[in-house]
Amino acid sequence: MTFDSSLPAVPGARHFIGGGWVEPASCERLPVENPATGEVIAELAAGSAEDIDRAVKAADGALTAARHARWTPSQRQDALLALANAVEAQAEEFALLETLDAGKPISNSRRVDVPGTVATLRYFAGWATKLTGESMELSQPGESTGYTLREPVGVVGHIIPWNYPLMGAAFKLGPAIAAGCAVVLKPAEQSSLSALRLAELAIACGFPPGFFNVVTGVGPVAGAALVDHPDVAKISFTGSTATGTQIAAACARQMKRVTVELGGKSPIIVFADADLDAAARAIAMNIFFNSGQTCSAGSRLFVHRDVADTLTGKVAQIGAAMKIGDTRDPETQLGPVITAAQRSRISTFVEGALAQGAQSRGYEGALPDAGYYVAPTVLSEVRSGMAAVDEEIFGPVLCAMPFETHDLDEIAALANDNRYGLSAYVWTRSLSRAHGLIGRLRAGTVRVNSAAGEIVMPAGGVRQSGFGRENGRAGVEAYTELKSVTIAHGHD
Ligand code: NAI
Ligand code: MG
Repeated sequence: MTFDSSLPAVPGARHFIGGGWVEPASCERLPVENPATGEVIAELAAGSAEDIDRAVKAADGALTAARHARWTPSQRQDALLALANAVEAQAEEFALLETLDAGKPISNSRRVDVPGTVATLRYFAGWATKLTGESMELSQPGESTGYTLREPVGVVGHIIPWNYPLMGAAFKLGPAIAAGCAVVLKPAEQSSLSALRLAELAIACGFPPGFFNVVTGVGPVAGAALVDHPDVAKISFTGSTATGTQIAAACARQMKRVTVELGGKSPIIVFADADLDAAARAIAMNIFFNSGQTCSAGSRLFVHRDVADTLTGKVAQIGAAMKIGDTRDPETQLGPVITAAQRSRISTFVEGALAQGAQSRGYEGALPDAGYYVAPTVLSEVRSGMAAVDEEIFGPVLCAMPFETHDLDEIAALANDNRYGLSAYVWTRSLSRAHGLIGRLRAGTVRVNSAAGEIVMPAGGVRQSGFGRENGRAGVEAYTELKSVTIAHGHD
């Protein structure tokens, strides 16, 4: 069977700045690769510090213009809603872009990435009209008034990874626009097409020019220039802990606001009383979906000895039965990882574990010849201290470890024995066990008897998973500064 692989109309190698397509300062180009075939399907402009400066000036100018001719909360709400509608109206085009650019099976792009983007934009649209300060009763002598104002932080720089290119752009754009900020986005060099298209659509949806700019390019050049630009008030970054550490340090030098949503090696704790079928489905979905390239994926499974073989067997079976292949085939469930480099990084972890005595179960069929496919894999006979157990693999690889104790402190110690702290998952029918663990787990998010996240819930990490929260009210408020106002009356 053949599938339509014609690339939807994509912009040439240009940036989107100040409401239109802009030629880059240098003629350097980056190839856009389809991870399912290795073919080069388009080119991107390799953005420079000059391009970033131009975009930041456009954003700054947009904020100044909006102070004169106000871009009101309800107008920002309407623009975000219109953008959501526009993405929905062009759902198939966006789905195909994500599939060809990021290697996502088309059924996933259609079912998750595009509807997730639409829902995200709609959710944040609602916040534009709902941000408020507070009023305080003051104790100073005489009559007085005290209140707080929530003001947008200003120009914000967004730097995002390649695993959810469109939804990742929306996670940051939505709250920033709701709060009244202007955005310069540097998408990942491996997957920038959908963000460029989103910026182009935004103009037709009522975004004033300069509120949403996209500069493509590599991290150490375009990304670093955005981080270092003195007129950028805040950086919101999602990606690796190594890069996030550099960015946080650079922001500290300028006392710039920064949110860093970094890697994870999230534990899953399954007790013998859990609904094992539901747990197996959710665990498999969470680690195999998007080929394991999800920051919050549960990747260290701690399961009670009594049910360890049954549960890991069920998860491995789900992996073994996955349909792997052409990303344009609606039946395909698992696509490639993003690049050859990521594939070899993943196999280094797996081979390292096998050399140290790990056992592997999962998909045993042939993988497509072309493209960067990795088989869904469950590793057992592994332990803390092995790189596969300690490090973020960012591939469809689950490490399963049994436990025997009923002591919640001991179980939590196993789960917490890792430098990350993004998510944690607990499966049990016992309320007291669940509550007991929630308090003991070092993670920004804990989910009990489910792996699903929701945009209303603040998300973010502790420890090496970063700091700051996205989504929910906290995610929007992170784009505001609180100004405290006190007025002593009686001086007129
Ligand atoms: P990365 O963190 O280097 O890249 C993410 C974004 O940061 C990209 O847009 C990149 O261009 C930009 N960037 C890179 N260096 C920069 C710099 N010096 N200044 C400013 N921006 C910069 O991640 P990479 O190299 O693509 O992936 C490596 C590993 O990182 C993965 O194997 C995975 O373990 C982890 N990762 C985790 C993610 C998560 O959501 N938790 C997402 C992506 C990667
Ligand atoms: Mg690509």
